Amino acid sequence: MMDTNIVSVPSSEGPVILHDAADFVGMRRAGRLAAEVLDYITPFVQPGVTTGELDRLCDVFTRERGGISAPLGYKGFPKATCISLNHVVCHGIPGDRRLEEGDIANVDVTVIVDGWHGDTSRMFLVGTKVSLKARRLVEVTRESLRRGIAAVRPGATLGDVGHAIQSYAEGAGFSVVRDFCGHGLGTTFHTAPSVMHYGQPGRGLVLRPGMFFTIEPMINAGRHDVKILDDGWTAVTRDKSLSAQAEHSLAVTEEGCEIFTLSPQGLDSFSEVRGP
Ligand code: MF3
Ligand code: CO
Ligand code: CO
Repeated sequence: MMDTNIVSVPSSEGPVILHDAADFVGMRRAGRLAAEVLDYITPFVQPGVTTGELDRLCDVFTRERGGISAPLGYKGFPKATCISLNHVVCHGIPGDRRLEEGDIANVDVTVIVDGWHGDTSRMFLVGTKVSLKARRLVEVTRESLRRGIAAVRPGATLGDVGHAIQSYAEGAGFSVVRDFCGHGLGTTFHTAPSVMHYGQPGRGLVLRPGMFFTIEPMINAGRHDVKILDDGWTAVTRDKSLSAQAEHSLAVTEEGCEIFTLSPQGLDSFSEVRGP
């Protein structure tokens, strides 16, 4: 078979699909809507609002734009988004908790548009009194995602991506969560490959144009260890230290990468990120 006809490459986790131009069109639409949801919710992320209210606003906006909130009912998850505050690492369940002055909050949105998944999250500083340490954690987390994305190009490996994130985050004095990772996506929410946010240069899957995956580092102010609360979802730091996360969905392209979930309003300062 000619190289141009290869539609997937094998990996230890199963085939990694090499998507075609029509698939890119689908992912651009899904990724754009997911990013629009985060842009839309931004002015509502204020002291006093409940995470449940934010979740509902996201879900209604998504439906009005013709999308579906992927988390709702996914493996039994009860809400449309994940909202993770302070020492919550990921998969926080929206509810009655009101945002407070000084909180840091991750809103993680995944929408399905015409069968394609767009998955992205951002950190928000609640109010004006967020501690310097928390602000630094959030900025280091964003920069670690930028560096991971900047390592994406054909011929690079997932170990290169993980190493770029880990070396930067640990160099800043923080730790990288091991128990959750980025993931392939497309017409499925979570598929091969797993994208670790730590690793060694040159190791792991060799990237090829047409691969779609997320990068979504979770960075802790203290130790990397996490535990799951009795609700079966909420992941928190074992040492109760602060945790931050940022996520984009992207494709490997001939030139480097294409981010599907850039903020249309330029609200998350990733617009300048491109492959090398
Ligand atoms: N959006 C999360 C991710 O980045 C997954 C949430 S799955 C849920 O992969 F069930 F917790 F919603
Ligand atoms: Co994801
Ligand atoms: Co997500």
